[in-house]
Amino acid sequence: MLTIQGLECGYGRMKVLEAIDFEVGAESVGLFGPNGAGKTTLISAIMGMVKPWKGTIELDGQKINGTETYSIARMGVALVPQERELFPGMSVEDNLMLGAAYIPHAKDDIPAQIEKIYAMFPILKERRTQLAGTMSGGQQRMLAIGRALMSKPRLLILDEPSLGLQPSIVAEVFDVLKSLKSSVSILVTEQNVRESLRAIDRGYVLENGRIVLADSAEGLKTNPYVIKSYLGI
Ligand SMILES: Nc1ncnc2c1ncn2[C@@H]1O[C@H](COP(=O)(O)OP(=O)(O)O)[C@@H](O)[C@H]1O
Ligand SMILES: [Mg+2]
Repeated sequence: MLTIQGLECGYGRMKVLEAIDFEVGAESVGLFGPNGAGKTTLISAIMGMVKPWKGTIELDGQKINGTETYSIARMGVALVPQERELFPGMSVEDNLMLGAAYIPHAKDDIPAQIEKIYAMFPILKERRTQLAGTMSGGQQRMLAIGRALMSKPRLLILDEPSLGLQPSIVAEVFDVLKSLKSSVSILVTEQNVRESLRAIDRGYVLENGRIVLADSAEGLKTNPYVIKSYLGI
């Protein structure tokens, strides 16, 4: 579905990513690495918010370098950003509806789609008239995921979904990702490697803008370098 080859990009004259070869098929893929490694930059390049200097980004064989973000969204890619970007002064249900509003293949199916999201997250149904900004951090994260799913994506990208959440909620978030695995391709960036490994099939480790390791979840779990640097107690 998503194929990246030889990607290089950055900000101004500062190079952030170099020689990135990266792929997401019908699977769930993790992108791991410390703060500042370039995870968000890679996602921004996929979403058309950072322009590639070199290399290609393809979606189903179609080159999307330089494509506008709204077109990429219409092609079936949804992002749950690191900053939640909900509309805090709007209700839960209005936030959900906005997730589909500008996506042609989703906007005719809003009522049925909302019911699906409510079935997945009963708390959102309970709170559907509540203002998004008054919900707890965990509930807002679920709402952000629900809103992204409203666009009926083929590829769901989540940028550090566990950030700032208490451990019990983190586990819930990864349970949700695990349950979504069979219906949508997933790309998730995380610093919390331990928790995410149970929700993904495969992962990449990004350090200083380069991919230093790519393996199955099982392979990463038992890799001495990963254990030492990312799973250490
Ligand atoms: N908008 C920006 N302008 C300039 N530099 C940026 C910008 N966003 C990120 N950077 C820099 O790019 C590098 C990678 O950042 P980022 O992609 O956010 O890493 P990560 O998501 O892995 O923490 C860092 O050195 C960061 O300071
Ligand atoms: Mg980031």
